[in-house]
Amino acid sequence: MSDRAYYVTTPIYYINSVPHIGHAYTSIAADVLARYARTRGQAFLLTGTDEHGQKVANAAAEAGVSPQAWTDRMAATWQSLCRRYEISYDDFIRTTEERHQSVCVEVFERLKVSGDIYVGKYEGWYCTYDETFWLESKLVDGRCPECRRDVQWLSEDNWFFALSRYRDRLLEHYRTHPDFVRPQRAYNEMLATLEGGLDDLCISRTNLDWGVPLPGGGVMYVWLDALLNYITAIGWSRDEERFRRYWPADVHLIGKEIARFHTIIWPAVLWALGLPEPKSIFAHGWLTIEGEKISKSRGNVFDPFATADFFGADTVRYFLLREAPFGADFSWSDEKVRQRRNSDLGNDLGNLLRRSLTMLQRYRDGIVPPVAGASFGERFGDLGERTAGRIVELDFRGALAEIWELVSALNRAIDEQKPWRLYEQGAQHELDALLYTLCEGLRWLGHLLAPFIPAKAAEIHQQLGVGDELGRNWNEALRWGDLTAGQQTRGGEPLFPRLLD
Ligand code: MSP
Repeated sequence: MSDRAYYVTTPIYYINSVPHIGHAYTSIAADVLARYARTRGQAFLLTGTDEHGQKVANAAAEAGVSPQAWTDRMAATWQSLCRRYEISYDDFIRTTEERHQSVCVEVFERLKVSGDIYVGKYEGWYCTYDETFWLESKLVDGRCPECRRDVQWLSEDNWFFALSRYRDRLLEHYRTHPDFVRPQRAYNEMLATLEGGLDDLCISRTNLDWGVPLPGGGVMYVWLDALLNYITAIGWSRDEERFRRYWPADVHLIGKEIARFHTIIWPAVLWALGLPEPKSIFAHGWLTIEGEKISKSRGNVFDPFATADFFGADTVRYFLLREAPFGADFSWSDEKVRQRRNSDLGNDLGNLLRRSLTMLQRYRDGIVPPVAGASFGERFGDLGERTAGRIVELDFRGALAEIWELVSALNRAIDEQKPWRLYEQGAQHELDALLYTLCEGLRWLGHLLAPFIPAKAAEIHQQLGVGDELGRNWNEALRWGDLTAGQQTRGGEPLFPRLLD
């Protein structure tokens, strides 16, 4: 067996403020991939916080505390958001950590030696909020084209990364790797950006001191500092064996507004360091309210902790992954979350579990009957593979739709075969076959849903009396007929109690 691990990352989050649901979204998607990948071998999920830069320094100043005290407090909040939404990260990196800062300095030194960075004069428009330089031609009414805030004129002697040198190689890479950037829309946009030409990138700041100090003065540009987190955490230049097990990353998950950094600048930096580019980058859409991106600056954020308390983390995870294709924007509404909760999760899945186990209790003392009838096994034999295929394609909605075919088919089997009638008629064989099918189908659902709604998937298995099953190899677990006859089920509380208006 290869010791290569599936490596998936989230962006590291700015901690100038508390998290909102849009932040949880990227991490939940990454968590699904990691949880699935762990059932096939090794996986590593990295998340963390982007703690340098002007925005964070400003937030600390406003709160009247030191930047370090501010980031310590905020990083703890972001970690508890991960726990609240069951993000099973393997490492949580903070860019203020020594392990990261020393990597940044080493990268800087190596780029100096390789001749990929040089000193030049920087004059240009800077948006503090987005930590981005803009060409005069890109400004909209003299303001930042991204957030529409005022920009500042900066003029400094700075270090530049010779990004323009890598344009042809990037174009070639895009041409030969059509899956490098997904979805297609993001690929097209980034290709157009490349075709339009590349400027070298200013990678140091002298007007700011909350950043990684560079030898000779100034601090590293926060975006270069941030991107490097992806190699710091897996031991670049510290533990080559470990690094080779994870790099290149299988997928960087990001929101679409930060695609340029990840799909153009980042591969070029890696090449300059003599490293391979990530295998793929997926730029997802935004969560909106009334057409507006949910964001602190637009003032339409709400507390993701309270949302999890109210709906339950699994319900929110399910909604976010089921509601829209992963690449597209979609809107949040409490009403839509409630509908998904009550219909898909409550009526379809929760009732299936409750009905099945209640009938099993009534007719067979809660004991799984001997195997009989393999029709579901034949019909859904490749469901595991199909679902897995959708997950690795990041088609979470499609994966859940596949899984719901099994949920619906099991519910239909109850409605059509009417176990209470089979019982009255003394059709023991048919009743056994049906009850077994329901239990085995539910065992499957526990496995299939574990990446998406981990706590409830575990609860399904608990109620079935197979609580030690989760974590089994995906293919082995999804063999129809694996559930042992004679298994004592337990039953329990409703999985998704109905939420009232
Ligand atoms: N710190 C940078 C990333 C550096 S990665 C080397 C950053 N941070 S962020 O906190 O502003 O955004 C982090 C992630 O949250 C991005 O992927 C962004 O798209 C995502 N989201 C923030 N608001 C969002 C929505 N309303 N909807 C969906 N995702 C959103 O950028």
